[in-house]
Amino acid sequence: MPQPATPPSPFDAVPAGAAAAAAAGAPRPEPTERFAARTAGMTASEIRALFAVASRPEVVSLAGGMPNLAALPLDALAAEVADLVAREGQVALQYGSAQGVPALREQICEVMALEGIRADPDDVVVTVGSQMALDLVTRIYCDPGDVVLAEGPSYVGALGSFAAYQARVVHVAMDEHGLVPDLLRDALGSLAAEGITPKFLYTIPNFHNPAGVTLAVERRAEVLEICASYGVAVVEDNPYGLLGFSGRTYPALRSLSRDVVYLGSFSKTFASGLRVGWALVPPAVRDRLVLAAESASLCPPSFTQMLVSRYLAAHDWRAQIKTYTEVYRDRRDAMLEALATYMPEGCTWNVPDGGFYVWLGVPEGVDTKAMLPRAVTARVAYASGTGFYADGFGSRQLRLSYCYPTPERITEGVRRLAGVLGAELDVMRTFGSSARPALGGGPQAPSPHTP
Ligand SMILES: Cc1ncc(COP(=O)(O)O)c(C=O)c1O
Repeated sequence: MPQPATPPSPFDAVPAGAAAAAAAGAPRPEPTERFAARTAGMTASEIRALFAVASRPEVVSLAGGMPNLAALPLDALAAEVADLVAREGQVALQYGSAQGVPALREQICEVMALEGIRADPDDVVVTVGSQMALDLVTRIYCDPGDVVLAEGPSYVGALGSFAAYQARVVHVAMDEHGLVPDLLRDALGSLAAEGITPKFLYTIPNFHNPAGVTLAVERRAEVLEICASYGVAVVEDNPYGLLGFSGRTYPALRSLSRDVVYLGSFSKTFASGLRVGWALVPPAVRDRLVLAAESASLCPPSFTQMLVSRYLAAHDWRAQIKTYTEVYRDRRDAMLEALATYMPEGCTWNVPDGGFYVWLGVPEGVDTKAMLPRAVTARVAYASGTGFYADGFGSRQLRLSYCYPTPERITEGVRRLAGVLGAELDVMRTFGSSARPALGGGPQAPSPHTP
C-alpha cells in the first residue's frame, strides 16, 4: 500500500537521493513490497497453521508427525549431555566443519548399511535435519520454473522447499505398492514432448509421508531405470526406513545406484529436537552442496552432532529403534481398529507396515479442508489432504498420525472424527449434496487405499 510521505527521520539510513524522493512525495514501499518474487510461494503449511489449536490438551491431535520421545532413556541421555560438556565442551560448543563431524559421518554410514548402502563418509553432508538437506538440494538443482517430479501426495515440507525455489511440481500417482512406474514413464514422456526434463524425482520409498505406503521392491530398479533413461536425478528421502513393523528393512534406492541423492535423519529414530539429518550425495555433487550448506549455516551444530555420535557409540540404538517400532505398531493397531469400528461407510484407508501415517479417503462430496474447523470444534485434529499436493488435489483425503497420542487417545480421536464425518454425510443426504460447499476442491488423483 502506498503511504503518504513522512518527513525523513534522522535515524533513517537512506541515501540522500532516496530521502529527497521521499520528501518530494514519492510513495514508499511497504516492507512486504520489498520481498523477492520467490517468497510469494512461501505460505504457512496448513499443518503449521493448525498447530496452536491442535496442541490444546482437550484436542486429540492426529495431525502432527511428532515422534514419541517418552520411549527414550532420558536419564542416560542427561548423563551423556553433562559428560559431553564436561569433557569435550571446548569442541562441542565451538564451530565445526561445514560437512559435519567426521566421526558422526562414519557412524551414519553404519546406519545406512542396514539398508544395503555402501557409502564413503566423505560423501556424507550433515545438515540441520533432513529438511535442510531438502532445501539445499533444491537450491543447488532448481532454477525458477524447473520441474520436479514428486509422488502425489507428497511430504508437505518438501513441497514448501520446492515452492520457495519456484520449482513446478508434477505429481505422479501411487497405488498400494507406491509410485507407479508406468505413470512415471507417462509423466516423463509427456514432459519430454514439451521439451521439459525435470531436475529430479523426489521420492519417499518407505512408509510414505503422508500416504503410508512402501514402494514395492520389484519396482525400485525400474523407477531408477526410467529416471536414468530420461536423464533425471533421483532424490530419495528416507526418514522412516528403519521403522518397519515387521522388522523388515527394504533396500534403499541408493543401494541400487550410487547416483541417487539420499536424505536421512535421526529425527524419527532418535530425537527430532536435536535437528540432525544428512545427505549422501555423489562425489560430483558434494562440493556444491557443502558450499550451499556453508552459506546457510556455516556448519551444523557441533553439540548435537557429538551428542548423536556418543549415543550411537555408547547406547543400544538398534534396541531403541525396536522399542520405537513396538510403540508405533501398537498405536497403528489402535488406529486401524478404531477406523474399522467407527468410520462411516465409504471411507477407505491403507494399512501401513511402518512409519507414522494412515491416509484416509472420505466419501465424495466431503471436503476435508472445509471440514477441519468443525473437527477441531469436536476436539480432534488431522491434516487435510490438500496440504500434500502442489496443485489443489487432496480435498477428499486426510492424513492421520498415530505416532504421538496414546492408543486410548487415538481411539477417542478417531471416534470423534467419525462423528464429524457422519454429520457431514447426514447434511449431504438431507440436502442431496454437500450443504457446505467445497473450498479448493478438485479432481482426485488415485490414492493408495484398501480395496
Ligand atoms: C518425508 C520427510 N522428510 C523429511 C522430514 C524432515 O525431517 P527432519 O526432522 O529430519 O528435518 C520429514 C519430517 O516429518 C518427513 O516426514
